[in-house]
Amino acid sequence: MDPDVPARTLEEALNDIESAGSPADLEDIRIKYLGRKGLISRHLSEMGSLSPEARPKMGKLLNETKGKIAAALAGKLEAAGSSGPVLPALDVTMPGRKPALGAIHPITRAMDEISDIFAGLGFTAAEGPEAELEHYNFEALNMPVDHPARDAFDTLFLESGALMRSHTSTVQIRYMEQHQPPVRIIAPGRVYRHETVDASHHYMFNQIEGLAVDEDITFADLKAVLLHFAHRYFGPEVNMRFRPSFFPFTEPSAEVDISCVICGGEGCSVCSRTGWLEIMGCGMVDVDVLQAVNYDPESCTGFAFGMGVERVAMLKHGIGDIRMFTENDIRFLGQLR
Ligand code: PHE
Repeated sequence: MDPDVPARTLEEALNDIESAGSPADLEDIRIKYLGRKGLISRHLSEMGSLSPEARPKMGKLLNETKGKIAAALAGKLEAAGSSGPVLPALDVTMPGRKPALGAIHPITRAMDEISDIFAGLGFTAAEGPEAELEHYNFEALNMPVDHPARDAFDTLFLESGALMRSHTSTVQIRYMEQHQPPVRIIAPGRVYRHETVDASHHYMFNQIEGLAVDEDITFADLKAVLLHFAHRYFGPEVNMRFRPSFFPFTEPSAEVDISCVICGGEGCSVCSRTGWLEIMGCGMVDVDVLQAVNYDPESCTGFAFGMGVERVAMLKHGIGDIRMFTENDIRFLGQLR
């Protein structure tokens, strides 16, 4: 490689620039010398034939030449009164900008996962209105006016006299009114409560309730279904226990606990040192509820259960605050892609 190459190239380029008549000419010159396949690039790639001592010197000279040509081009362009850039503003060879990808909302995702598990057991999803009649939220579920259990399901009342449903048990009643046994449904959806918002409570959240009515349905069926759910959703290592409880619409009733998914049952701050976490309520459908929808309690029995979707999703993913679901922080929302 001739050591005069940089000087010669510069001289040639300056001559070309000198005789250029338009910004378009200057752009051609820029491409000829400074382009990706231009002379400077070519000379740089020819340096392999030089001795290791000569190489850095040649590299430096060629780069200086490149700078001088660019400066001369800029000077000429400016003199020509053009404000256009010497280098093009758009380099079509640059990689494009990646558009931000959306993600499924963690609650939607949890609803889908849970629904899938119950679908595998033959439960289909049923829906009902969020603005409900008192009858479906209370009376038909064995909570007449002034029943003290209404307090636990207190909600927002609309001027029309309707209310925002405080559980999706409403859907169970509506479904049984329209269908005869056998029944196997889940009722996913949004519910409302008279609740002050804090890390674990919200006035609006989601539930998935379930209902099975058939000949000879027993508490053992209920336990098997819920244990299957817990193993599929939380993992095969979790244990489950049932604590006697009360709901007006089931008898007997129970609260369902799983062994703490954080500490494995040892006792930690999440499970208040008990080793157990409450995840839902359940029970055998009360005879009064069956009668309210004209089912014959002599020929069928049923079980029902209901869980808060935020609650189980928080436990599964170690989410510490229910408010994160509604704050639209994409750093949080994007994590479960
Ligand atoms: N409806 C109850 C609630 O919202 C949950 C539940 C459903 C309990 C079915 C028992 C049977 O808390």
